[in-house]
Amino acid sequence: MTLRIGDTAPDFQVETTTGPISFHDWIGDQWAFFFSHPADYTPVCTTEMGRTAQLAAEFESRNCKPIGLSTDTVEEHQGWIKDVNDTQNTDLRFPIIGDADSKIAKLYDMIHPNESDTAAVRSVFIIDPNKKIRLMMTYPMTVGRNFDEILRVLDALQTTDSAEVACPADWRPGDKVIIRPSVTPDEAKKKFPQGWDEQRPYLRLTDLGS
Ligand code: BEZ
Repeated sequence: MTLRIGDTAPDFQVETTTGPISFHDWIGDQWAFFFSHPADYTPVCTTEMGRTAQLAAEFESRNCKPIGLSTDTVEEHQGWIKDVNDTQNTDLRFPIIGDADSKIAKLYDMIHPNESDTAAVRSVFIIDPNKKIRLMMTYPMTVGRNFDEILRVLDALQTTDSAEVACPADWRPGDKVIIRPSVTPDEAKKKFPQGWDEQRPYLRLTDLGS
């Protein structure tokens, strides 16, 4: 299935390490960070699972729930979580989906046959409280994800939802944002009374404050 930004994230019912879930109900009125892995008991995946667990408070402060997937069983995940906790010095509490038949991985196009016919690549979906897909990233099996970027893009998406702005290259929270080109100068005066730095009529940088 081809998924695109702005599509409704496909719903599904599945067993996870924290019990059965119905995906949309599980997301509720929060954001979701849905990420896949090739397999349990593999080294890069172990570090990524550990990093996600270590960042639990960062995800929570952004009203975002992580949920993992690999094409193994819940029982296999349960054993692996002990290794993740031991080796990454953490306490993994978020759910990991059991997907031994690759049903969910196929639904989200996580199987890329030139990498593997059966195991998922490292997909990321950020899904908003309206269940819309807001970001997709795909990493190969041999490269672990950058979790600073995952948190940064969550911050950026939540910022661009809060005002008619966009985030420039390498934006970090607290940096200036761009007034969207669709906002006319008259509208901008009302919406951004703090003013802006107009480098070009289409490139207007403003400070949202903290
Ligand atoms: C890993 O998680 O380390 C891994 C998994 C599949 C292929 C390569 C690396």
